Amino acid sequence: MDKNFYITTPIYYPSAKPHMGHAYSSIIADFFARFKRIDGFNVSFLTGTDEHGLKIQRAAEKKSINTLKFCDEISETFRNLSKTLNLTNTDFIRTTEKRHKDSVQNLWKELEKNNDIYLSKYSGWYSVSDEAFYADDEVEDFEGKKQAISSKSQVEWMDEESYFFRLSKWQNHLLDHYNKNPEFISPPSRKNEVISFVKSGLKDLSVSRKSFSWGIKVPNNNDHIIYVWLDALTNYISALNYPNTENEIYKQFWPADIHLIGKDILRFHAVYWPAFLLAAKIPLPKRVYGHGWILSGEEKMSKSKGNILDPIKIIEKYGLDPLRYYLIKEVSFGNDGNISQERLEDCINSDLANNFGNLCQRVTAFAIKNCLGKVPDKIKFEDEDLKILDKFKDNLNLIRQKIDNQDINFYIDFIVNSLFETNKYFNDQEPWKKKEETIRLNTIVYTTLEIVRKISYMLYPIIPQSSLNALKIFDIKEDEIKFSSLEDHYYLKGKSMINKIDILFKKIEKEND
Ligand code: ME8
Ligand code: MG
Repeated sequence: MDKNFYITTPIYYPSAKPHMGHAYSSIIADFFARFKRIDGFNVSFLTGTDEHGLKIQRAAEKKSINTLKFCDEISETFRNLSKTLNLTNTDFIRTTEKRHKDSVQNLWKELEKNNDIYLSKYSGWYSVSDEAFYADDEVEDFEGKKQAISSKSQVEWMDEESYFFRLSKWQNHLLDHYNKNPEFISPPSRKNEVISFVKSGLKDLSVSRKSFSWGIKVPNNNDHIIYVWLDALTNYISALNYPNTENEIYKQFWPADIHLIGKDILRFHAVYWPAFLLAAKIPLPKRVYGHGWILSGEEKMSKSKGNILDPIKIIEKYGLDPLRYYLIKEVSFGNDGNISQERLEDCINSDLANNFGNLCQRVTAFAIKNCLGKVPDKIKFEDEDLKILDKFKDNLNLIRQKIDNQDINFYIDFIVNSLFETNKYFNDQEPWKKKEETIRLNTIVYTTLEIVRKISYMLYPIIPQSSLNALKIFDIKEDEIKFSSLEDHYYLKGKSMINKIDILFKKIEKEND
């Protein structure tokens, strides 16, 4: 069995500070990375910054700062955000690093060697904001200017000598690949738009620019800069030491299990990237998942629109784990989602403070008082105990499958339902009335504690710090969390100490409460 797992986020443009959309992609990627890790996988998790191209050059010019210095500064804010979000990324790549430049130039040479690159002239529309070319039928008039219909970003006319990649040559290979690998483009709802774009006929792709200098030079023709998307996409293999494909890291982790991206950049990942790889005879990633957008009102939250919510401010106000929980739960994964502070507060109060936090406090307080502060050891499970314990054991493989299909909604529903059932179980069993029936009282407490442990394990990928705080009840440390132990009904050792823990989540006082 392949026990390696490689997940990537997009590498973000350091044209402005990170916003909630970036935080969202990164948190979701971290969720998968953590889940896979507790399920015994060796995980590589890559994120970073995409620093070349006209968009970045212009952003630096606007501030009159040296371009690399500009990138250094903003890239650092992305690196810091990774820490603030408690991401477990194993690498952070910048496209201005030597390891990456060498890798891109090598890929270029490979494409050239295989006769997939030729010199010609590009005349057409270009959006600097998207760093993308658009055909005539993809642009529209807007206030006397032209803009891309899909992204609404302004386009400019471009007319210059350019190298081209023979994208048209790969059209049928791509269609064949989508056909044979129905999961390659996920979720399924995104597949059709890509397939119809490819079917409508792929034109060769302009892959170099002459009119500016901020980028990686074309080998053997230094007047040209390599197209920023060819440069950026290569990051996924640069980080694995490409072109050295014989090293352990590359062999373990390529092809990637999943490139997690927003749906805005699906075409680059599901069409151009696999075409470059096919041309260079490199295996294709297993999956490209294009998640939905975080909206602000009805619009995509984006730095060019200025309608952004600052993740740092939200974290300062509410803490990190509530934000992670909220984004993972409330934005139905795969779809667009509106977010609001009001809903975030509801989530904290009901799910985190009431359903999870209270359960932990209640059962520990009860055990400290009635079981000498220890995990009870004389127990005998009855049907009603087994019923809620078995649910984890019976669903272990289903949960794994759902995760491998990026069905986060299933995962979170499972947790929310389990919390509900466990609270109900504890109430219905009324252990406080069983002081004369020691075994029964012990068993109810033991069962509830076991479920608190299991749910805390499942919450670990979502709210890692709070999960670890809850697991202090049992003195369980991070490296002891094993997803497979969810099937064990007797994991907690009788007579081991139960620790009182601090309040996990503070309830938010709401004005109209
Ligand atoms: O496109 N909702 O970088 P970028 C959800 N450098 N996710 C969002 C979002 C929103 N409102 N806004 C941004 C680039 N994102 C290229 C990528 S990869 C080889 C190169 C997330 O800074 C989402 O993942 O514009 C989206 O795809 C990405 O940030 C775009 O970030
Ligand atoms: Mg963007």
